[in-house]
Amino acid sequence: MAQPIRNVIVFAAGGGLGRAFVEALQREGFNVSAVTRPSNSISYGPDVTMHRSEYDDFDTLVAIFRGQDAVVSTTGTFAAKYQLTAINAAAAAGVRRFLPSEYGGNTSLVGVTSYPPFAAEKKAIVDHLRTKESQGLTWTALCVGSFFSWVLEEGKGTLGWDIDKGEVTIYDSGDQEFDTTTVNQVARAAIAILRNLEETKNTYVFVNSFVITQNQTLSALERIQGKPYKVSHDSWSAARSRGLEALERGDIEVGYHDLVTGTIYDPGHFAHFKADEVSKWKKILQLNEKEDLDGVIMEVLRKKNYI
Ligand SMILES: NC(=O)c1ccc[n+]([C@@H]2O[C@H](COP(=O)([O-])OP(=O)(O)OC[C@H]3O[C@@H](n4cnc5c(N)ncnc54)[C@H](OP(=O)(O)O)[C@@H]3O)[C@@H](O)[C@H]2O)c1
Repeated sequence: MAQPIRNVIVFAAGGGLGRAFVEALQREGFNVSAVTRPSNSISYGPDVTMHRSEYDDFDTLVAIFRGQDAVVSTTGTFAAKYQLTAINAAAAAGVRRFLPSEYGGNTSLVGVTSYPPFAAEKKAIVDHLRTKESQGLTWTALCVGSFFSWVLEEGKGTLGWDIDKGEVTIYDSGDQEFDTTTVNQVARAAIAILRNLEETKNTYVFVNSFVITQNQTLSALERIQGKPYKVSHDSWSAARSRGLEALERGDIEVGYHDLVTGTIYDPGHFAHFKADEVSKWKKILQLNEKEDLDGVIMEVLRKKNYI
């Protein structure tokens, strides 16, 4: 049996998911380190060993990764390529498991290269990881669909929601099903992967909190808040086109929300996984079959003082 993972370093740890992973790994008793670029001055307190490195500095990254059992990467959606040198360094340093920054749709789908570029860029990282298997570096790509509570909390219109204004844009019929996961469940799944090394070696893993539609989410929000939302309509394909145009202009900030929205609500299977796959992985990782939808929504609304 493989030695248990004890030393875990979160790579590109200065973002939103990085923070959630550092905190969850600490709670679960791992020896946690974190690396950010020198330009990011975030610190996680005395129990987390902080490192700074540029992400193309192979030698520094090898030195940082030496003695680590696993690297959990949380590079941003449009920053997948910054993992390339880190993967080379992890292999050279003798790291056993690398979790690339996936945490979204299924980038192993045939035809993913025709999706918006961030999906293909994430897939290219998995392809690069495959070339390192012979050096003893194993990998797991964790796919979770959209982040359920995150998009509700964000309040910028991602996936159509703006709960601060009590508004939603429904895409197409609003009945498109997709997989979605709370950040807590994403962290639980990542940690369970580190505790189930053999089953999760060199493979994609699919988990969720719910399979849901926009209309079902809207009904739950309206019922819990006791007020109707202002509804407008759009289509996933129009959102995706606008996002791609913005990206071509170099305007990632503007394009991000449309691109992500147009990709998640695409009726292809990018963010709607095979139910039996999800069920299989939840059993292996010992995750609850279903989370409590009302409970998760109420937690978001409470955080914002709306209930
Ligand atoms: N499924 C969903 O709904 C959903 C929602 C949100 C995020 N995600 C996924 O979760 C992962 C992490 O997302 P996040 O929102 O936490 O990321 P983020 O905060 O945007 O970025 C995370 C880190 O990536 C690094 N980074 C970003 N841009 C960079 C650049 N141009 N050059 C070099 N490094 C750069 C930074 O590292 P430093 O720490 O060095 O500054 C940053 O702190 C991504 O794969 C994202 O797609 C999924």
